[in-house]
Amino acid sequence: MGDNSGSNQMWGGRFAGGPSAIMREINASIPFDKALWRQDIAASKAHVDMLGAQGIVSPDDAALIAGGLDQVAAEYEASGVPENWDLEDIHMTTESRLAELIGPAAGRLHTARSRNDQVATDFRLWVRDAMDQAELGLKQLQVALVSRAGEHSGSIMPGFTHLQTAQPVTLGHHLMAYYEMIGRDRSRFADARVRMNRSPLGAAALAGTGFPIDRFRTAEALGFDGPTDNSLDSVSDRDFALDYLMAAAQCSLHLSRLAEEFIIWASQPFGFVTLPDSLSTGSSIMPQKKNPDAAELVRGHSGRIVGCLTALMITMKGLPLAYSKDMQDDKPPVFEAASLLALSIAAMTGMVAEAKFRTERMRAAAELGYATATDLADWLVRQANIPFREAHHITGSAVKLAESRGIALDQLSIEDLKAIDERIDDRVYAALSVEASVAARCSHGGTAPDEVRKRVAQARVALGLEESA
Ligand code: ARG
Repeated sequence: MGDNSGSNQMWGGRFAGGPSAIMREINASIPFDKALWRQDIAASKAHVDMLGAQGIVSPDDAALIAGGLDQVAAEYEASGVPENWDLEDIHMTTESRLAELIGPAAGRLHTARSRNDQVATDFRLWVRDAMDQAELGLKQLQVALVSRAGEHSGSIMPGFTHLQTAQPVTLGHHLMAYYEMIGRDRSRFADARVRMNRSPLGAAALAGTGFPIDRFRTAEALGFDGPTDNSLDSVSDRDFALDYLMAAAQCSLHLSRLAEEFIIWASQPFGFVTLPDSLSTGSSIMPQKKNPDAAELVRGHSGRIVGCLTALMITMKGLPLAYSKDMQDDKPPVFEAASLLALSIAAMTGMVAEAKFRTERMRAAAELGYATATDLADWLVRQANIPFREAHHITGSAVKLAESRGIALDQLSIEDLKAIDERIDDRVYAALSVEASVAARCSHGGTAPDEVRKRVAQARVALGLEESA
């Protein structure tokens, strides 16, 4: 290779020697950006098709390059992407293999293009797929939630505030709360997808190009809604990756909260749920144990996903226009978050679908803790026209008395209740059962079984599981 021996084949003209070992290592992104190979081939094919159509390269060369790219793709598919650090990244790896396969015509592929718009395009395509996959996975989780909520629209459990028994609710209502959260996550991914779906290809290095390219054509070929409108922004914008990570981070918080419910519910003092064997582990020392490891890891993974978001935010902070090499570090956090999120969604979907809810334990727990105390207060307001504050006070005395005897509210005799406030009569017992308590909460979005069934029916239509009535 004469004077340029050891120098890079792509820019060897300007460099006398090769990079040091450290430079090679710090520079190489191929170990991770090879994950972009499909997107890189697709974007290159769209580009060369456009170059041919615009007469920027000859039809013969365009066809030769397109065929060569197909061959490179077939090789990658069959045996993976080779990792040669001297070739730095997926873009140069592919171009170099293309040159080996088709000869000098390969050198025409990079006309009117730079790795800066190339990587921005490839990465957008990858993130767009990740958004679609997240959306799809979350929909499956919603299907599981709705189906279990339908089964348990009337199953009574304690509702908590401060993790203290507050009022009885239904398990269906509790599960549908997560349906709502996951619905917001889906819409965040969908919003982000709309915002990001513009093609940066053709922005070239930073300033655009003098070649008569057709950016609308490449945008359309790659499924974008059109080209981006500012070349500097196009090559230095990573908002789409941040949007993805923000949606992923928020979603992971929801998954972590759901995981936490299962962890608490599966603990022996609660005993509200038996976790599926397929998503639990045993202990190497304590034979009786069945640990909620999958749920704990979902809870743990949310920390890592939020970390990925933080990493990319800090990477992007303060970068002047346009491209800087810092931006090569955009990919590992996104790839990591995407695989953690996909696993977390799958684990929670399995957990929801297969958990055995111990509804008799839930119901018994709802009977404890004076969960219907508010119902007694509400009854006093309705039946005896007592102001709520006073009713609250009277009820407090009843709870205190029941507590001192170690019995439930509805086990107090009518004499005892009358001694507390003589306006109480024995119609009150009807209001003190947990069934009466949940049935009474029939305001829109409330926990009454009829209300939960309405929400489940609407959700089934929204998810396409049923035609609308
Ligand atoms: N591997 C690079 C990255 O991921 C590709 C873009 C390189 N551009 C450049 N001007 N060195 O960011």
